[in-house]
Amino acid sequence: MKKILITGSMGQIGSELIKALRDRYGHDAVIASDFRTPPYENKDQWNPFEFVDVTKRETLIEVVKKHQINCIYHLAAILSAVGEQNPQLAWNVNINGLYNVLEVAREYHIQQIFCPSSIAVFGPSTPKDHTPQETILQPTTMYGLTKVSGELLCDYYATKFGLDVRGIRYPGIISSETLPGGGTTDYAVAIYYDAVKYNRYTCFVREDTVLPMVYMPDAIYGSISLMEADRTHFQHHSNFNMASMSFSAGELAAEIKKHLPEFTCTYEPDFRQKIADSWPRSIDDRASRAEWGWKPQYDLAAMTKDMLAKLTARHQQGKL
Ligand code: NAD
Ligand code: SER
Repeated sequence: MKKILITGSMGQIGSELIKALRDRYGHDAVIASDFRTPPYENKDQWNPFEFVDVTKRETLIEVVKKHQINCIYHLAAILSAVGEQNPQLAWNVNINGLYNVLEVAREYHIQQIFCPSSIAVFGPSTPKDHTPQETILQPTTMYGLTKVSGELLCDYYATKFGLDVRGIRYPGIISSETLPGGGTTDYAVAIYYDAVKYNRYTCFVREDTVLPMVYMPDAIYGSISLMEADRTHFQHHSNFNMASMSFSAGELAAEIKKHLPEFTCTYEPDFRQKIADSWPRSIDDRASRAEWGWKPQYDLAAMTKDMLAKLTARHQQGKL
């Protein structure tokens, strides 16, 4: 029987992945964890929940032993914008935290580990359009640097110790349930919330900034599909390029305006512009499509319709 631990489960991805994994494998098969405590009002939504600080290996070991964990979705991390403000923290959580997860997996014979990477592995010298699977990896952010090292570390554990480690270079993820935790692509989520609440948004990147994005339902479905795929024919482990859609901040605002004609967006670029400018505009994900059948469902129009419907309903209930 599968017994899954999710680290960093209270974050943007974890909070939705928990439900998808519990629907698929059974409620008690999935143990949520984080170094934050779930809010008391909806603590039942998280249970079974354990405290795990990935930088403290003993907290991981205790939970792995207690629940006889055989699969880990390792989501605990510091994202790009927070990482630039606190590079030491980003290194500690993203590198030492990952090393702890891999070491515990090796020692306790964990069958599978999912460890996300990011488009942040690419840098200014990488081709910007249809960025290839195999290409130059010279990021200029601490976050990107930890993601490149993380991919290499995961591949090392796969070849040296035979661990089944899998990972995706997610593009920016757009979602309606939990706000993102301090990345550069956060504007593409915040714009929907502010459109619904205030009919206006001040965007922290330029109008012509184009980045690759994916809608959360596709990202979740893709992650589980990768973990369930037969790896016999895999050419890659932890660095699969993922693409879904690419658009500029201005195109995103225009799409929202089709539904909310009064909506206005202004642009006040800050330090995150430089990070965005160092990342690709679009991604070549043919390896994911060929090796494990990746196929996203949502484009910008379908995602915008769904996001606005969900957020408007929550706003009307006073829950936004
Ligand atoms: P998030 O910031 O929303 O959540 C991260 C979670 O990790 C938080 O709940 C936080 O409390 C927790 N955490 C931080 N330090 C911890 C520690 N020491 N021990 C335990 N938990 C800790 O991030 P997310 O968006 O859910 O990202 C999950 C993974 O996906 C990360 O590896 C991230 O780099 C990757 N990723 C995310 C995106 C995106 O757009 N969301 C894009 C590319 C890659
Ligand atoms: N969405 C993430 C970030 O902006 C990309 O990894 O940090």
